[in-house]
Amino acid sequence: MEKSPGKKKIAVLISGRGSNLKSLIKYSNQKKSLFKIVLVISNNLNAKGLMIANKSKIKNHYIKYSNQKNFENLVLKLIKKYKIDMICLAGFMKILSKKFIKKFSKPILNIHPSLLPKYKGLNTHGRAIKNREKYSGATVHIVNEKLDAGKIIFQEKVKILKKDTEKTLEKKVLKVEHKIYPRAIIKLLFNY
Ligand code: GRF
Repeated sequence: MEKSPGKKKIAVLISGRGSNLKSLIKYSNQKKSLFKIVLVISNNLNAKGLMIANKSKIKNHYIKYSNQKNFENLVLKLIKKYKIDMICLAGFMKILSKKFIKKFSKPILNIHPSLLPKYKGLNTHGRAIKNREKYSGATVHIVNEKLDAGKIIFQEKVKILKKDTEKTLEKKVLKVEHKIYPRAIIKLLFNY
């Protein structure tokens, strides 16, 4: 018998630390949660997130990124096997192809540590501080074939203080990321 009937099944793709994965697992372990993390895939064998998945007894797979096509085909196979309803990228450092997005045909979300459309790509905190921005924040958006460019689902600001460094800003933004990612998932899946 299925353990959590009715809950939407989510696969999380990671490449590293996995703090967003950890917070999503924590959220989804609540009885009232409307989704369940059932699969974790990493393109990095040493990703700490794989250990987090193991500890939480969530099926997890390392898939070598030899090339985009092979990697994506293997991901699609697993996604089909586990009947996944949504993919969430959480610190996944590769771009998914238009073909993959079309083939999956269900929502793919990503979390990004800036107030998109500002500061796409890497080193968001350093660039925001250098440009003397008053605010930064985190954004959850739909994934399309362009980097950090899909429709914004949820965004929250944090104030940048004069004393903030890249490190302190990252910490503040990460806290917000952990809060908004589950909310964005619910908003997209259930329209509230
Ligand atoms: C987060 O800042 C996320 O917004 C970005 O990569 C980082 C991943 O961190 N896409 P973690 O692996 O979830 O701790």
